Amino acid sequence: MNVAIVGGGSKCLYLLNFIEQHIFQIISPKIIAVADTNTDAVGFVKARNQGLFVTQDYNDFFDRNDVDLIIELTGDLDIYNDILRKKKKNVRAIAHTTAILFWEISRIARKEQDTRLKLHEAKTIYEVMINELIEEDVMVIDTDYCITDINDTMLNKLGLKREKTIGHFCYEITHHRNTPCSGNNHPCPLTQSLETHKPSKTTHIHLDKSGNELYYSISCYPIKEKGEVTGVIEISSDITKDIKRQKNMMQQEKLMSIGRLSAGIAHEINNPLTTIMTSSMLLQEDTDPDDPIYGELETISKEALRCRNIVKSLLDFARQSKPVRKSLNFNQIIMDTIFLVQKQAGFNDIKISTNLSDNLPMTYLDKDQIQQTLINLALNAIEATDPGGNVKFSTETNPETGMIHIDISDTGCGIPKENLDKIFDPFFTTRETGTGLGLAITHGIIEQHGGTIEVESTPGKGTCFTIMLPVKQGEKHGA
Ligand SMILES: Nc1ncnc2c1ncn2[C@@H]1O[C@H](COP(=O)(O)OP(=O)(O)OP(=O)(O)O)[C@@H](O)[C@H]1O
Ligand SMILES: [Mg+2]
Repeated sequence: MNVAIVGGGSKCLYLLNFIEQHIFQIISPKIIAVADTNTDAVGFVKARNQGLFVTQDYNDFFDRNDVDLIIELTGDLDIYNDILRKKKKNVRAIAHTTAILFWEISRIARKEQDTRLKLHEAKTIYEVMINELIEEDVMVIDTDYCITDINDTMLNKLGLKREKTIGHFCYEITHHRNTPCSGNNHPCPLTQSLETHKPSKTTHIHLDKSGNELYYSISCYPIKEKGEVTGVIEISSDITKDIKRQKNMMQQEKLMSIGRLSAGIAHEINNPLTTIMTSSMLLQEDTDPDDPIYGELETISKEALRCRNIVKSLLDFARQSKPVRKSLNFNQIIMDTIFLVQKQAGFNDIKISTNLSDNLPMTYLDKDQIQQTLINLALNAIEATDPGGNVKFSTETNPETGMIHIDISDTGCGIPKENLDKIFDPFFTTRETGTGLGLAITHGIIEQHGGTIEVESTPGKGTCFTIMLPVKQGEKHGA
């Protein structure tokens, strides 16, 4: 790796000496050029004596094809920004603060040269900062909250170019704020590390473009130079999936206990209900249809029947029946479901469309149960959508996990954020005639199949439920 250095002072000299004295196992850095306006600077002089390329103008670096990394050692952010703007795309530039980190890595590697663990540590830090192989977001921030370096992972997530972030305040880039983060929801780990000179950790909740909550675990490590903290390295990782998994497990436990309770109650209620229904029917038979009591008796039978349906749904929900699985074509189940709900949709002037993958692997599942979940989701979507709207079924295989993903999306009213956590709870309903069991049953069935169900919704725009299911490997079929 060929390195060019801007700033030929003592730090440059240190780096020249350091590289000269050590055999590197992880990287083989080679300083090939040094720039400084002061031709008497100690590092500059050494470089010149060694026959390296020296110049008073760092712009000379940009024409060279042999530079892999430019290290800015003057500490001047304007110079660093200028380098970022002018350098070739494949050339990496690191700033003064990151360079300090670089010394730290070197120091670890030097002190503990023979210790494998330490070398491994140095390698990891190196990869984090330079090669950027990790999934976490990494920023180097100075004591004024200005970003002095940032890794590609984070830039990709932010959708920003490096030049647009360097020199900007971290709170401005990540939180769109004018002042550093504060308060219980957003304590600033950087402030804490600057005050205590110690590492600090916190969790932040961010909202994505659709208003969904993203959980970030943020750690800050102070960077010290001659005992003074000159900045921090901040590493944040998205822990939304872990939090969701945790919530899912709690939901499962809740459902299981409610399931057992409901099964008991439903069973007890079923018998008296049947008695009420048959008695009122018998009484009706003995009553003249013109008698006002006849109408009252009819109401009793109708309402008792409605209760019976609720009890039946409850028993369906509580019945922890194991799925009876067969190898099936999922697209076919979708087409069968559409056939069943088409009438309802047409009645409400709602269009049902599909976007089905034509090389979906065969799935191993209980057709009746899965069809029940799709009908629940489709009916919910139809209920939520105004005439003229759209309900869409899509299928695809996730190339990474091999699982199949089924989306049921609608252009309906959406679900308010405060309800998103409740919709899978039994008896949660916003519909006058709803029992609130549809999604609870759906959730249970998908879990029984080893899958998961997630929801994304924008009030006023629509909702998308995504089912993710494992498949029986090895077979492919058409739509
Ligand atoms: N596609 C959707 N769009 C908007 N809101 C939805 C959608 N799907 C579900 N919901 C909300 O979630 C609630 C719970 O749905 P669930 O299917 O469990 O019960 P329900 O539809 O109210 O009654 P039922 O037991 O008859 O299905 C609904 O009342 C509604 O508020
Ligand atoms: Mg429903």
